[in-house]
Amino acid sequence: VVDAAHINARMDAFEQSFPNAVRAYAAKAFLVPALAAAVAERGWWLDVVSAGEARLALEMGVPAEHLIVHGNYKTPDEVLLAVVRGAGRVVVDHPAEVTQLAEAARLHDREVDVLLRLNVDIDVETHPKVRTAGSDVHFGMVVSEAASAVRAATGPVHLRGVHLHLGSQLRDPDVYPAAMEAVAEFVEVHRAAFPDVVDLDVGGGMAVPYVRSDPVVPVGDYAAAIERGAYEAERMIGPVRILIEPGRAIVANAGVTVYRIGVRKPGPEGVPFLAVDGGISDNPRPALYGAEYEAVLARRADEPHDHPFRVVGRHCETGDTVVPHAWLPADADHGELLVVPATGAYGFSMASRYNLVSRPPVIFVESGRERVVVERDDSLPGLGA
Ligand code: LLP
Repeated sequence: VVDAAHINARMDAFEQSFPNAVRAYAAKAFLVPALAAAVAERGWWLDVVSAGEARLALEMGVPAEHLIVHGNYKTPDEVLLAVVRGAGRVVVDHPAEVTQLAEAARLHDREVDVLLRLNVDIDVETHPKVRTAGSDVHFGMVVSEAASAVRAATGPVHLRGVHLHLGSQLRDPDVYPAAMEAVAEFVEVHRAAFPDVVDLDVGGGMAVPYVRSDPVVPVGDYAAAIERGAYEAERMIGPVRILIEPGRAIVANAGVTVYRIGVRKPGPEGVPFLAVDGGISDNPRPALYGAEYEAVLARRADEPHDHPFRVVGRHCETGDTVVPHAWLPADADHGELLVVPATGAYGFSMASRYNLVSRPPVIFVESGRERVVVERDDSLPGLGA
């Protein structure tokens, strides 16, 4: 269940804090037609990473020139789509991609505007699985590779700037200026190959609170740090245009997942298990990243939630945990609705049909009204509906 007003408020906050940046929403966090339409209406750009995300966006009226096309492996079809439709920016992840883009562009008589994704080796504090900086990470190019991409970018391929994405859930805004300086150094070396105003895309990664004890980092703190980075970069390479790609910071706190408790059984050390009608198939984050959430009983939210529980899913997986350390009323039991807040990002978008359980619907609520924006999916693979 998604609070549409919350998404709007977050987009407002980014517009106020980053008035001069190109604001692109990272579709991978959560993309449904209603959200793509809001992106189009506000004139935001969209960071897409597959033909699927791009097609949904185009269908909902996001202009192709507002798409930032990502991917460490873009299929030939995706390269073609980006070139033929005229994506705003294609983010080159390895030098050979420049050649692929040039071939497609020549064949279809198009021009392509690219950013080079640099892998900046700086220390980033976050979960290793969502860190995208460092030599052990398979995204982007180290300086020597990026230099050959610069040399390859000729003819219909136009170098517009550089891209970096350090990782997700970055609670320290100061990592941005540090990385921006590193990529500016690269641009400085190859200054003649770049245009007068260089695009400096700093990616996403702005953190959100998942549980009450998590710190809240204001959007303005990221803006101030990124502005500092831009100032330093401009001293080195002249005018830059900043692009940002927040994903979870727009949607994470807008969504809650509503489960029904089906089973209560004794657990270790007096902490009972509660099994709900979902789990790893609608939110793989606890299993993948050890992500923590809170839980609340929908109809008894004002009662003391002071008894420990372990909320698990319904899948055939020992790792299928929904809320590993939940606090609920002591008598919480089957039949009740259990709400898990802060599931608006990377839940629906990473959902699967594991065990052929249905994929839950997505419901937007706004001004007291509800609207089903995605129907429940209980189709049978290979058999259709
Ligand atoms: N830009 C690029 C190039 C990215 O790779 C990502 C995320 C973003 C922007 C948006 O990052 P955000 O602002 O949402 O942190 N499934 C993981 C997150 C993977 C993020 C991948 N890239 C999770 O659930 O935490």
